[in-house]
Amino acid sequence: MKDTMVLGIETSCDETAASVVVNGRKVLSNIISSQVDLHAEYGGVVPEIASRRHVELILPVIDNALKEAGITLEEVDAVAVTYGPGLVGALLVGVSAAKALAFSLGKPLVSVNHIEGHIAANYISHPDLEPPYLCLVASGGHSHIVHVVSYSDFRIMGRTRDDAAGEAFDKIARVLGLGYPGGPAIEKAAKDGNPEAFDFPRVNFTDAPYDFSFSGLKTAVINTVHQFVQKGEPLPVEDISASFQKAVTDVLVDHTVSAAMAIKADTICIAGGVAANTLLRDRMSERASEMNIRVLYPRMILCTDNAAMIASAGYYALKAGRTADWRLNAVPSLKIGESG
Ligand code: KG4
Ligand code: ZN
Repeated sequence: MKDTMVLGIETSCDETAASVVVNGRKVLSNIISSQVDLHAEYGGVVPEIASRRHVELILPVIDNALKEAGITLEEVDAVAVTYGPGLVGALLVGVSAAKALAFSLGKPLVSVNHIEGHIAANYISHPDLEPPYLCLVASGGHSHIVHVVSYSDFRIMGRTRDDAAGEAFDKIARVLGLGYPGGPAIEKAAKDGNPEAFDFPRVNFTDAPYDFSFSGLKTAVINTVHQFVQKGEPLPVEDISASFQKAVTDVLVDHTVSAAMAIKADTICIAGGVAANTLLRDRMSERASEMNIRVLYPRMILCTDNAAMIASAGYYALKAGRTADWRLNAVPSLKIGESG
């Protein structure tokens, strides 16, 4: 059978990315132009700055992806693009570029849900992975426990009631003066800290055992920081980072492993930016192995935002006949399982 080459495009937040992936699994190129430095001085992503930068970068990034893959535009079989969730202005840049390319080439346009893209990153890193499995998606905007029943059937078992896990990392990093993005900064500081130094809260809901809440944890950390500041004592940044990281990973792991046991899953996947966290990967693997459940996660570069994951998800949508028409628009608050 002829190979299917999908050009993936991702511009939902602060990464301008394009990638060529063969048959949903083999990455020929994965170009990511990060705007992190541009937003760092503001302590977070500034939407208008992000959109403008995407406009400047989108065509060179696509050109690079094709060049590195060693193919011409005419060899692309379909164009897949993130259409939500994300920042509307940022999404529109990718959606407009994808529409123009697909239309001029006479090739199918495929719309991809960013969160489903994060999940698909696991198909690239694990060629033998097939649904069903359980997936924890933890990123800057989302924390979901998802039963992936098939390539296009996603059932949410748990979600955050307030902050996403990555958002909590970013906010606490800011309070500790560690900069943006917070996840990698906290992880680095935590290496020299004692995870038992502070007993920060772990929240559970009796009516929804797989749901998360990180706002109480965030407040507890901020109060601790204030106490040190008020007393004029030096801030134990490493110990706070390690204790906070442990509190977040404990709940993510507990709830995910319980959900996997409830549906008798034999595989847990982790996805999204927070999946890059080594403590989360290690603790999840340890706990799941006690239950004979295997744990998979994408290569580091495929955990945070990239277009290879969008091309992979786009391939499976294409195979299922789910193509978009020229009316495709950005949907900033798109929910998981809603793509069509
Ligand atoms: O998936 P992603 O790149 O973008 C969204 O779709 O949100 O995730 C970014 C989030 C940020 O909140 C960042 O702080 C977090 O992932 N993150 C991490 C790590 N690397 C990135 N969180 C914890 N540990 C990390 N090593
Ligand atoms: Zn993302």
